[in-house]
Amino acid sequence: MISLEERIAEQLPNWRERVNRLRNEFGDFKVCDVTVSQIYGGIRGVQIQVSDISYVDPNEGIRIRGYSIPELLKILPKLPGAEFPLAGGVYYLLLTNELPTFEDAMIVEEEWRKRSLIPTYVYNTIRRMPKETHPMTLFSIGIMALQKESVFAKEYEIGVVKDDHWRYFLQDSLNLTAKLPGLAAFIYNLKYQDGIYLPPKADHDWSANFGVMIDREGDPKYYDLCRLFFFLHCDHEGGNVSAHATHLVSSALSDVYLSCAAGMNGLAGPLHGLANQECLKWLLDVREYFNGIPTQEQLESFLRLSLSEGKIIPGYGHAVLRTTDPRFTAQLEFARSKNLNSDLLQLVEMVFAILPGILMENGKVSNPWPNVDAINGALQYHFGVKEFDFYTVLFGVSRILGLSAHIVWARALLKPIERPKSLTTSMLESMISKK
Ligand SMILES: CC(C)(COP(=O)(O)OP(=O)(O)OC[C@H]1O[C@@H](n2cnc3c(N)ncnc32)[C@H](O)[C@@H]1OP(=O)(O)O)[C@@H](O)C(=O)NCCC(=O)NCCS
Repeated sequence: MISLEERIAEQLPNWRERVNRLRNEFGDFKVCDVTVSQIYGGIRGVQIQVSDISYVDPNEGIRIRGYSIPELLKILPKLPGAEFPLAGGVYYLLLTNELPTFEDAMIVEEEWRKRSLIPTYVYNTIRRMPKETHPMTLFSIGIMALQKESVFAKEYEIGVVKDDHWRYFLQDSLNLTAKLPGLAAFIYNLKYQDGIYLPPKADHDWSANFGVMIDREGDPKYYDLCRLFFFLHCDHEGGNVSAHATHLVSSALSDVYLSCAAGMNGLAGPLHGLANQECLKWLLDVREYFNGIPTQEQLESFLRLSLSEGKIIPGYGHAVLRTTDPRFTAQLEFARSKNLNSDLLQLVEMVFAILPGILMENGKVSNPWPNVDAINGALQYHFGVKEFDFYTVLFGVSRILGLSAHIVWARALLKPIERPKSLTTSMLESMISKK
Protein backbone atom coordinates (compact mmCIF):
# COMPACT_ATOMS: atom_id res chain seq x y z
CA MET A 1 0.00 0.00 0.00
CA ILE A 2 1.81 3.02 -1.35
CA SER A 3 0.68 5.80 0.97
CA LEU A 4 1.44 4.06 4.29
CA GLU A 5 4.63 2.50 2.99
CA GLU A 6 5.84 5.83 1.59
CA ARG A 7 5.04 7.69 4.79
CA ILE A 8 7.08 5.19 6.84
CA ALA A 9 9.91 5.03 4.28
CA GLU A 10 10.24 8.84 4.29
CA GLN A 11 10.76 8.89 8.04
CA LEU A 12 13.07 5.91 8.29
CA PRO A 13 16.45 7.55 7.57
CA ASN A 14 15.91 10.01 10.40
CA TRP A 15 14.73 7.36 12.88
CA ARG A 16 17.57 5.02 11.99
CA GLU A 17 20.08 7.83 12.39
CA ARG A 18 18.71 8.66 15.85
CA VAL A 19 18.83 5.01 16.94
CA ASN A 20 22.33 4.50 15.52
CA ARG A 21 23.59 7.60 17.30
CA LEU A 22 22.17 6.37 20.63
CA ARG A 23 23.67 2.93 20.14
CA ASN A 24 27.07 4.10 18.89
CA GLU A 25 27.67 7.17 21.04
CA PHE A 26 25.76 6.32 24.22
CA GLY A 27 25.82 2.53 24.23
CA ASP A 28 27.14 2.45 27.84
CA PHE A 29 24.65 4.96 29.21
CA LYS A 30 22.68 3.29 32.06
CA VAL A 31 18.89 3.71 31.92
CA CYS A 32 18.17 1.85 35.16
CA ASP A 33 19.53 -0.75 37.56
CA VAL A 34 17.62 -3.94 38.21
CA THR A 35 16.93 -5.03 41.77
CA VAL A 36 16.39 -8.52 43.16
CA SER A 37 12.74 -7.55 43.88
CA GLN A 38 12.27 -6.59 40.24
CA ILE A 39 13.80 -9.84 39.01
CA TYR A 40 11.43 -11.84 41.21
CA GLY A 41 8.60 -9.35 40.72
CA GLY A 42 7.83 -9.68 37.03
CA ILE A 43 10.52 -7.17 35.92
CA ARG A 44 7.98 -4.55 37.05
CA GLY A 45 9.01 -1.02 36.20
CA VAL A 46 12.24 -1.98 34.44
CA GLN A 47 12.53 -0.03 31.21
CA ILE A 48 13.43 -2.75 28.74
CA GLN A 49 12.55 -1.32 25.36
CA VAL A 50 11.94 1.83 23.38
CA SER A 51 8.72 2.33 21.48
CA ASP A 52 7.40 5.60 20.12
CA ILE A 53 3.91 4.34 19.33
CA SER A 54 2.33 4.94 22.72
CA TYR A 55 3.28 5.73 26.29
CA VAL A 56 1.27 5.25 29.48
CA ASP A 57 1.72 8.27 31.71
CA PRO A 58 0.83 7.28 35.29
CA ASN A 59 -0.97 10.56 35.94
CA GLU A 60 -2.56 11.16 32.60
CA GLY A 61 -3.13 7.80 30.96
CA ILE A 62 -2.15 6.66 27.53
CA ARG A 63 -0.74 8.98 24.89
CA ILE A 64 -0.78 7.55 21.39
CA ARG A 65 1.92 9.07 19.19
CA GLY A 66 2.01 11.92 21.69
CA TYR A 67 -1.74 12.65 21.73
CA SER A 68 -4.03 12.01 24.70
CA ILE A 69 -7.31 10.08 24.35
CA PRO A 70 -9.53 13.21 24.63
CA GLU A 71 -7.39 15.00 22.02
CA LEU A 72 -7.59 12.10 19.59
CA LEU A 73 -11.34 11.73 20.06
CA LYS A 74 -11.63 15.33 18.86
CA ILE A 75 -9.14 15.38 16.00
CA LEU A 76 -9.14 11.94 14.38
CA PRO A 77 -11.22 11.80 11.17
CA LYS A 78 -14.80 10.54 11.41
CA LEU A 79 -17.42 9.55 8.88
CA PRO A 80 -20.25 12.05 8.35
CA GLY A 81 -22.87 11.31 11.01
CA ALA A 82 -20.47 9.31 13.19
CA GLU A 83 -19.22 10.65 16.51
CA PHE A 84 -16.19 8.40 16.87
CA PRO A 85 -13.03 7.92 14.80
CA LEU A 86 -12.49 5.70 11.81
CA ALA A 87 -10.22 2.77 12.74
CA GLY A 88 -8.43 3.36 9.42
CA GLY A 89 -7.28 6.75 10.75
CA VAL A 90 -6.23 5.21 14.06
CA TYR A 91 -4.08 2.65 12.22
CA TYR A 92 -2.60 5.36 10.02
CA LEU A 93 -1.55 7.30 13.12
CA LEU A 94 -0.12 4.22 14.87
CA LEU A 95 1.91 3.25 11.82
CA THR A 96 3.07 6.58 10.46
CA ASN A 97 3.36 8.88 13.48
CA GLU A 98 1.32 11.44 11.50
CA LEU A 99 -2.21 12.68 12.02
CA PRO A 100 -4.34 11.31 9.20
CA THR A 101 -6.60 13.39 7.02
CA PHE A 102 -10.03 11.98 6.23
CA GLU A 103 -8.63 10.77 2.88
CA ASP A 104 -5.70 9.01 4.62
CA ALA A 105 -8.13 7.21 6.94
CA MET A 106 -10.33 6.20 4.01
CA ILE A 107 -7.33 4.85 2.07
CA VAL A 108 -6.62 2.44 4.94
CA GLU A 109 -10.32 1.55 5.18
CA GLU A 110 -10.35 0.80 1.43
CA GLU A 111 -7.19 -1.31 1.69
CA TRP A 112 -8.82 -3.27 4.50
CA ARG A 113 -11.98 -3.77 2.42
CA LYS A 114 -9.93 -5.21 -0.46
CA ARG A 115 -7.98 -7.53 1.85
CA SER A 116 -10.83 -8.67 4.10
CA LEU A 117 -11.73 -12.01 2.50
CA ILE A 118 -11.01 -14.90 4.86
CA PRO A 119 -10.08 -18.20 3.15
CA THR A 120 -12.61 -21.03 3.69
CA TYR A 121 -9.98 -23.34 5.19
CA VAL A 122 -9.67 -20.91 8.12
CA TYR A 123 -13.41 -21.13 8.83
CA ASN A 124 -13.27 -24.92 8.49
CA THR A 125 -10.35 -25.18 10.92
CA ILE A 126 -12.32 -23.22 13.54
CA ARG A 127 -15.52 -25.17 12.86
CA ARG A 128 -13.75 -28.44 13.69
CA MET A 129 -12.97 -27.34 17.24
CA PRO A 130 -15.27 -28.53 20.08
CA LYS A 131 -18.16 -26.13 20.62
CA GLU A 132 -17.14 -25.28 24.18
CA THR A 133 -13.66 -24.04 23.13
CA HIS A 134 -13.01 -20.55 24.53
CA PRO A 135 -13.51 -17.80 21.88
CA MET A 136 -9.98 -16.51 22.51
CA THR A 137 -8.58 -19.94 21.68
CA LEU A 138 -10.61 -19.93 18.45
CA PHE A 139 -9.37 -16.42 17.67
CA SER A 140 -5.76 -17.43 18.15
CA ILE A 141 -6.29 -20.58 16.05
CA GLY A 142 -7.85 -18.44 13.29
CA ILE A 143 -4.83 -16.14 13.24
CA MET A 144 -2.46 -19.11 13.19
CA ALA A 145 -4.42 -20.71 10.34
CA LEU A 146 -4.03 -17.48 8.36
CA GLN A 147 -0.25 -17.69 8.75
CA LYS A 148 -0.11 -19.70 5.51
CA GLU A 149 -0.84 -16.38 3.79
CA SER A 150 2.23 -14.61 5.21
CA VAL A 151 3.95 -12.53 2.55
CA PHE A 152 7.00 -12.08 4.77
CA ALA A 153 7.42 -15.85 5.35
CA LYS A 154 7.30 -16.48 1.57
CA GLU A 155 9.69 -13.67 0.71
CA TYR A 156 12.08 -14.71 3.48
CA GLU A 157 12.29 -18.19 1.94
CA ILE A 158 13.31 -16.63 -1.37
CA GLY A 159 15.74 -14.23 0.30
CA VAL A 160 14.98 -10.63 1.15
CA VAL A 161 17.35 -7.94 2.44
CA LYS A 162 17.01 -7.07 6.11
CA ASP A 163 16.43 -3.41 5.28
CA ASP A 164 13.15 -4.38 3.60
CA HIS A 165 11.74 -6.81 6.18
CA TRP A 166 9.43 -4.12 7.48
CA ARG A 167 7.74 -3.71 4.08
CA TYR A 168 6.58 -7.33 4.16
CA PHE A 169 5.62 -7.03 7.82
CA LEU A 170 3.50 -4.06 6.76
CA GLN A 171 1.79 -6.10 4.04
CA ASP A 172 1.10 -8.93 6.51
CA SER A 173 -0.17 -6.44 9.08
CA LEU A 174 -2.64 -4.93 6.63
CA ASN A 175 -3.77 -8.36 5.48
CA LEU A 176 -4.27 -9.61 9.03
CA THR A 177 -5.94 -6.50 10.48
CA ALA A 178 -8.30 -6.36 7.46
CA LYS A 179 -9.69 -9.76 8.43
CA LEU A 180 -10.03 -9.28 12.19
CA PRO A 181 -13.64 -8.00 12.37
CA GLY A 182 -14.74 -10.84 10.07
CA LEU A 183 -12.82 -13.44 12.04
CA ALA A 184 -14.22 -12.22 15.36
CA ALA A 185 -17.77 -12.04 13.96
CA PHE A 186 -17.45 -15.57 12.56
CA ILE A 187 -16.45 -16.87 16.03
CA TYR A 188 -19.29 -14.95 17.69
CA ASN A 189 -21.88 -16.27 15.24
CA LEU A 190 -20.55 -19.81 15.38
CA LYS A 191 -20.70 -19.93 19.16
CA TYR A 192 -23.78 -17.91 19.95
CA GLN A 193 -25.89 -17.38 16.82
CA ASP A 194 -26.15 -20.87 15.27
CA GLY A 195 -23.36 -20.16 12.80
CA ILE A 196 -25.23 -17.51 10.79
CA TYR A 197 -23.14 -15.74 8.14
CA LEU A 198 -23.71 -12.04 7.51
CA PRO A 199 -21.35 -10.42 4.97
CA PRO A 200 -19.78 -7.00 5.58
CA LYS A 201 -21.17 -3.98 3.72
CA ALA A 202 -18.91 -2.32 1.16
CA ASP A 203 -20.04 1.15 2.25
CA HIS A 204 -19.49 0.56 5.99
CA ASP A 205 -16.25 1.17 7.83
CA TRP A 206 -14.08 -1.52 9.45
CA SER A 207 -15.52 -0.97 12.95
CA ALA A 208 -19.18 -0.68 11.98
CA ASN A 209 -18.88 -3.79 9.84
CA PHE A 210 -18.20 -5.84 12.95
CA GLY A 211 -21.66 -4.73 14.11
CA VAL A 212 -23.14 -5.61 10.71
CA MET A 213 -21.59 -9.09 10.77
CA ILE A 214 -22.95 -9.94 14.23
CA ASP A 215 -26.46 -8.85 13.26
CA ARG A 216 -26.50 -5.31 14.65
CA GLU A 217 -26.97 -3.78 11.20
CA GLY A 218 -28.67 -0.40 11.21
CA ASP A 219 -27.80 0.43 14.84
CA PRO A 220 -25.72 3.64 14.63
CA LYS A 221 -25.18 3.72 18.40
CA TYR A 222 -23.61 0.26 18.32
CA TYR A 223 -21.49 1.26 15.31
CA ASP A 224 -20.22 4.21 17.34
CA LEU A 225 -19.54 1.97 20.32
CA CYS A 226 -17.47 -0.32 18.05
CA ARG A 227 -15.53 2.70 16.74
CA LEU A 228 -14.91 3.93 20.27
CA PHE A 229 -13.99 0.50 21.66
CA PHE A 230 -11.63 -0.40 18.81
CA PHE A 231 -9.92 2.98 19.15
CA LEU A 232 -9.57 2.91 22.95
CA HIS A 233 -7.98 -0.54 23.14
CA CYS A 234 -5.60 -0.20 20.20
CA ASP A 235 -2.38 0.08 22.22
CA HIS A 236 -1.01 0.43 25.76
CA GLU A 237 2.75 0.89 25.25
CA GLY A 238 5.26 -1.94 24.93
CA GLY A 239 5.68 -3.59 28.33
CA ASN A 240 2.32 -5.30 28.92
CA VAL A 241 2.11 -9.06 28.40
CA SER A 242 0.59 -9.11 24.90
CA ALA A 243 2.77 -6.31 23.53
CA HIS A 244 5.91 -7.77 25.03
CA ALA A 245 5.08 -11.31 23.85
CA THR A 246 4.38 -10.10 20.30
CA HIS A 247 7.58 -8.08 20.23
CA LEU A 248 9.66 -10.96 21.60
CA VAL A 249 8.31 -13.53 19.14
CA SER A 250 8.68 -11.19 16.17
CA SER A 251 12.32 -10.55 17.14
CA ALA A 252 13.00 -14.13 16.01
CA LEU A 253 11.64 -12.97 12.61
CA SER A 254 8.47 -14.95 13.20
CA ASP A 255 5.95 -13.26 10.92
CA VAL A 256 3.06 -11.01 11.95
CA TYR A 257 0.58 -13.92 12.27
CA LEU A 258 2.85 -16.01 14.52
CA SER A 259 3.79 -12.98 16.60
CA CYS A 260 0.26 -11.59 17.03
CA ALA A 261 -1.11 -15.05 17.89
CA ALA A 262 1.51 -15.19 20.68
CA GLY A 263 0.29 -11.80 21.89
CA MET A 264 -3.32 -13.00 21.83
CA ASN A 265 -2.40 -16.05 23.93
CA GLY A 266 -1.05 -13.62 26.53
CA LEU A 267 -4.12 -11.40 26.25
CA ALA A 268 -6.27 -14.46 27.03
CA GLY A 269 -4.85 -14.62 30.58
CA PRO A 270 -7.06 -13.64 33.54
CA LEU A 271 -4.51 -11.07 34.73
CA HIS A 272 -4.50 -9.33 31.35
CA GLY A 273 -7.29 -9.20 28.77
CA LEU A 274 -9.65 -11.61 30.48
CA ALA A 275 -10.15 -9.07 33.30
CA ASN A 276 -13.00 -7.37 31.42
CA GLN A 277 -15.16 -10.49 31.54
CA GLU A 278 -14.41 -10.79 35.28
CA CYS A 279 -15.56 -7.25 35.74
CA LEU A 280 -18.91 -7.70 34.07
CA LYS A 281 -19.43 -10.93 36.00
CA TRP A 282 -18.83 -9.03 39.22
CA LEU A 283 -21.41 -6.36 38.26
CA LEU A 284 -23.95 -9.06 37.39
CA ASP A 285 -23.27 -10.85 40.69
CA VAL A 286 -23.82 -7.62 42.65
CA ARG A 287 -27.10 -7.04 40.82
CA GLU A 288 -28.21 -10.59 41.54
CA TYR A 289 -27.16 -10.37 45.18
CA PHE A 290 -29.36 -7.32 45.69
CA ASN A 291 -32.01 -8.58 43.32
CA GLY A 292 -31.65 -5.28 41.43
CA ILE A 293 -29.81 -2.05 42.11
CA PRO A 294 -28.77 -1.50 45.75
CA THR A 295 -29.11 1.79 47.59
CA GLN A 296 -25.95 3.86 48.15
CA GLU A 297 -25.77 2.62 51.75
CA GLN A 298 -26.22 -1.02 50.80
CA LEU A 299 -23.54 -0.78 48.11
CA GLU A 300 -21.11 0.96 50.43
CA SER A 301 -21.51 -1.73 53.13
CA PHE A 302 -21.18 -4.44 50.49
CA LEU A 303 -17.94 -2.95 49.11
CA ARG A 304 -16.46 -2.51 52.59
CA LEU A 305 -17.32 -6.09 53.50
CA SER A 306 -15.83 -7.45 50.25
CA LEU A 307 -12.57 -5.58 50.84
CA SER A 308 -12.38 -6.65 54.48
CA GLU A 309 -12.69 -10.26 53.28
CA GLY A 310 -9.68 -9.65 51.00
CA LYS A 311 -11.72 -9.75 47.81
CA ILE A 312 -10.55 -7.93 44.69
CA ILE A 313 -13.00 -5.50 43.10
CA PRO A 314 -12.44 -5.93 39.36
CA GLY A 315 -12.10 -2.82 37.23
CA TYR A 316 -10.28 -0.81 39.89
CA GLY A 317 -6.53 -0.33 40.24
CA HIS A 318 -3.78 -0.45 37.65
CA ALA A 319 -0.17 -1.53 37.47
CA VAL A 320 0.97 1.81 35.98
CA LEU A 321 -1.90 4.34 36.06
CA ARG A 322 -2.44 6.51 39.12
CA THR A 323 -5.57 8.26 37.94
CA THR A 324 -8.96 7.42 36.40
CA ASP A 325 -8.24 5.69 33.13
CA PRO A 326 -9.21 8.15 30.36
CA ARG A 327 -10.52 5.14 28.45
CA PHE A 328 -13.02 4.58 31.29
CA THR A 329 -14.01 8.25 31.19
CA ALA A 330 -14.49 8.17 27.40
CA GLN A 331 -16.84 5.21 27.66
CA LEU A 332 -18.75 6.70 30.59
CA GLU A 333 -19.25 9.87 28.54
CA PHE A 334 -20.40 7.71 25.62
CA ALA A 335 -23.05 6.08 27.84
CA ARG A 336 -24.19 9.46 29.16
CA SER A 337 -24.23 11.26 25.81
CA LYS A 338 -26.14 8.46 24.11
CA ASN A 339 -28.63 8.34 27.01
CA LEU A 340 -28.09 4.65 27.58
CA ASN A 341 -30.29 3.58 30.43
CA SER A 342 -29.60 0.24 32.03
CA ASP A 343 -29.36 -0.91 35.60
CA LEU A 344 -25.83 -2.21 34.98
CA LEU A 345 -24.62 1.17 33.75
CA GLN A 346 -26.32 2.75 36.75
CA LEU A 347 -24.37 0.34 38.94
CA VAL A 348 -21.13 1.32 37.15
CA GLU A 349 -21.85 4.98 38.02
CA MET A 350 -22.66 4.14 41.65
CA VAL A 351 -19.48 2.08 42.15
CA PHE A 352 -17.45 4.89 40.57
CA ALA A 353 -18.98 7.40 43.00
CA ILE A 354 -18.33 5.28 46.11
CA LEU A 355 -15.42 2.87 45.68
CA PRO A 356 -12.41 5.19 45.09
CA GLY A 357 -13.09 6.92 48.44
CA ILE A 358 -13.20 3.59 50.28
CA LEU A 359 -10.04 2.34 48.56
CA MET A 360 -8.26 5.59 49.46
CA GLU A 361 -9.23 5.19 53.14
CA ASN A 362 -7.99 1.63 53.03
CA GLY A 363 -4.59 2.90 51.82
CA LYS A 364 -3.34 -0.43 50.48
CA VAL A 365 -4.25 0.01 46.83
CA SER A 366 -1.77 2.09 44.80
CA ASN A 367 -4.48 3.35 42.45
CA PRO A 368 -8.07 3.59 43.72
CA TRP A 369 -9.47 4.72 40.36
CA PRO A 370 -11.32 2.73 37.68
CA ASN A 371 -9.55 1.22 34.71
CA VAL A 372 -11.04 0.62 31.28
CA ASP A 373 -12.54 -2.73 32.30
CA ALA A 374 -14.85 -1.16 34.87
CA ILE A 375 -17.30 -0.26 32.09
CA ASN A 376 -16.37 -2.16 28.91
CA GLY A 377 -18.55 -5.17 29.52
CA ALA A 378 -21.55 -3.20 30.79
CA LEU A 379 -21.66 -1.31 27.48
CA GLN A 380 -21.51 -4.44 25.32
CA TYR A 381 -24.13 -6.04 27.56
CA HIS A 382 -26.38 -3.05 27.04
CA PHE A 383 -26.29 -3.67 23.28
CA GLY A 384 -27.13 -7.34 23.71
CA VAL A 385 -23.61 -8.73 23.35
CA LYS A 386 -24.06 -10.63 26.58
CA GLU A 387 -21.66 -13.52 26.10
CA PHE A 388 -18.87 -12.13 28.19
CA ASP A 389 -16.30 -14.80 27.43
CA PHE A 390 -16.25 -13.12 23.99
CA TYR A 391 -15.16 -9.68 25.25
CA THR A 392 -11.43 -10.46 25.15
CA VAL A 393 -11.77 -11.22 21.43
CA LEU A 394 -13.08 -7.68 20.91
CA PHE A 395 -10.12 -6.41 22.89
CA GLY A 396 -7.83 -8.53 20.69
CA VAL A 397 -9.30 -7.18 17.43
CA SER A 398 -8.40 -3.70 18.57
CA ARG A 399 -5.07 -4.49 20.23
CA ILE A 400 -3.61 -6.14 17.13
CA LEU A 401 -3.67 -2.69 15.51
CA GLY A 402 -1.07 -1.56 18.05
CA LEU A 403 0.83 -4.84 18.25
CA SER A 404 1.32 -5.06 14.51
CA ALA A 405 2.41 -1.40 14.32
CA HIS A 406 5.01 -2.09 17.03
CA ILE A 407 6.55 -4.98 15.11
CA VAL A 408 6.52 -3.23 11.73
CA TRP A 409 8.61 -0.52 13.40
CA ALA A 410 10.79 -3.04 15.23
CA ARG A 411 11.76 -4.48 11.84
CA ALA A 412 12.07 -1.00 10.30
CA LEU A 413 14.54 -0.03 13.01
CA LEU A 414 16.39 -3.32 12.51
CA LYS A 415 15.92 -4.49 16.09
CA PRO A 416 17.82 -7.72 16.77
CA ILE A 417 16.55 -10.92 18.36
CA GLU A 418 15.79 -10.47 22.08
CA ARG A 419 17.95 -12.56 24.37
CA PRO A 420 18.05 -11.45 28.00
CA LYS A 421 20.13 -13.57 30.37
CA SER A 422 19.01 -15.61 33.35
CA LEU A 423 21.05 -16.59 36.38
CA THR A 424 20.68 -19.24 39.06
CA THR A 425 19.62 -18.73 42.68
CA SER A 426 23.13 -19.70 43.85
CA MET A 427 24.70 -17.14 41.52
CA LEU A 428 22.43 -14.46 42.90
CA GLU A 429 23.20 -15.48 46.50
CA SER A 430 26.90 -15.46 45.76
CA MET A 431 26.72 -12.01 44.10
CA ILE A 432 24.94 -10.63 47.17
CA SER A 433 27.33 -12.21 49.69
CA LYS A 434 30.34 -10.73 47.85
CA LYS A 435 28.85 -7.24 48.18
C1 LIG B 1 -4.65 -4.13 38.18
C2 LIG B 1 -3.98 -4.79 39.35
C3 LIG B 1 -3.67 -6.26 38.98
C4 LIG B 1 -2.68 -4.04 39.66
O1 LIG B 1 -1.96 -4.77 40.61
P1 LIG B 1 -0.86 -4.08 41.53
O2 LIG B 1 -0.01 -3.18 40.72
O3 LIG B 1 -0.19 -5.16 42.32
O4 LIG B 1 -1.78 -3.17 42.47
P2 LIG B 1 -1.42 -2.50 43.86
O5 LIG B 1 0.01 -2.14 43.97
O6 LIG B 1 -2.40 -1.39 44.01
O7 LIG B 1 -1.75 -3.63 44.92
C5 LIG B 1 -1.59 -3.38 46.30
C6 LIG B 1 -2.59 -4.16 47.07
O8 LIG B 1 -3.91 -3.67 46.78
C7 LIG B 1 -4.75 -4.72 46.37
N1 LIG B 1 -5.64 -4.27 45.32
C8 LIG B 1 -5.29 -3.69 44.14
N2 LIG B 1 -6.38 -3.45 43.40
C9 LIG B 1 -7.44 -3.88 44.13
C10 LIG B 1 -8.83 -3.93 43.87
N3 LIG B 1 -9.35 -3.52 42.73
N4 LIG B 1 -9.63 -4.44 44.83
C11 LIG B 1 -9.11 -4.88 45.99
N5 LIG B 1 -7.80 -4.88 46.28
C12 LIG B 1 -6.98 -4.39 45.35
C13 LIG B 1 -3.78 -5.76 45.80
O9 LIG B 1 -4.38 -7.05 45.77
C14 LIG B 1 -2.61 -5.66 46.72
O10 LIG B 1 -2.95 -6.37 47.91
P3 LIG B 1 -1.84 -7.29 48.65
O11 LIG B 1 -0.75 -6.32 49.03
O12 LIG B 1 -2.59 -7.86 49.79
O13 LIG B 1 -1.39 -8.30 47.64
C15 LIG B 1 -4.89 -4.73 40.61
O14 LIG B 1 -5.20 -3.40 40.91
C16 LIG B 1 -6.16 -5.55 40.44
O15 LIG B 1 -6.16 -6.75 40.67
N6 LIG B 1 -7.28 -4.89 40.01
C17 LIG B 1 -8.52 -5.57 39.77
C18 LIG B 1 -8.46 -6.36 38.47
C19 LIG B 1 -8.50 -5.48 37.23
O16 LIG B 1 -9.28 -4.54 37.15
N7 LIG B 1 -7.65 -5.80 36.24
C20 LIG B 1 -7.60 -5.06 34.99
C21 LIG B 1 -6.40 -4.17 34.95
S1 LIG B 1 -6.38 -3.19 33.49
